[in-house]
Amino acid sequence: MKNALVALTTLALLASSAQARTWDAIKQSGTIKIATEGAFPPFNFFKGKTLTGFEVDLGTAIGKGLGLKVEWVTQPFDNLLIGLNQDRYDFVIASHGITPERQKAVDFSNPHYCTGGALVSKVGGPKMVADLKGRAVAVQVGTTYLENVQKVAGIGKVSTFPKDTDAQAALMAGRVDVWVGDKFSALDVVKAQKGKLQLGDLLFQERIAMAVKKGNASLLKELNSGLATELSNGTYTKLSQQYFAQDIRCK
Ligand code: ARG
Repeated sequence: MKNALVALTTLALLASSAQARTWDAIKQSGTIKIATEGAFPPFNFFKGKTLTGFEVDLGTAIGKGLGLKVEWVTQPFDNLLIGLNQDRYDFVIASHGITPERQKAVDFSNPHYCTGGALVSKVGGPKMVADLKGRAVAVQVGTTYLENVQKVAGIGKVSTFPKDTDAQAALMAGRVDVWVGDKFSALDVVKAQKGKLQLGDLLFQERIAMAVKKGNASLLKELNSGLATELSNGTYTKLSQQYFAQDIRCK
């Protein structure tokens, strides 16, 4: 908890006085620079050398829909909002839940999906939040999973990993009792492990959004309108069905 708070304070302080690119500047250049992690399937990940996933396809659709060329940048998850505040790209789409702490550092768009943090364990392991007492848990660092797991009274050792897939691997290796991750990612992981894993309770729910540098109102307005377009023109529906076989928009 202390570490997470220190990181966020640093983040707020790092908000540079340099000017983020306004919508006019981006439009004039003809290219928008979007950042993601590239290690969070099925939202953003590499298939061989190709960056892909629900958020990558959606971000590309939004950029193109706004009449721009799209350039992707990948960064470790924990660096994404820091790089945003250093003007290294125009916006971030990497499954960030809207939280009051993050809102101090960046501005969020309207949500592009709604989800929750789910418990996953080996068959026979803890399934309910009430079973977490004294249990060892793995989560990705800098995430809302970490923040929420730390709030569970009597929780055992919480191990953090740079990548969510490393936290999953710790569960598979038996080094922890539970992995807490996104419920849609969890559905895929449980399925891929063919009967070895089970999906448990949702620990919390969250709204996921794109982030722009704090104060970049002109870009935020265009992103919200671009998202609204894709939500209504069939593109979002198609992508959501393709990746999740259901519509994951916030209801
Ligand atoms: N939704 C969680 C959060 O807001 C996890 C996001 C992780 N994203 C990623 N690209 N690894 O912290």
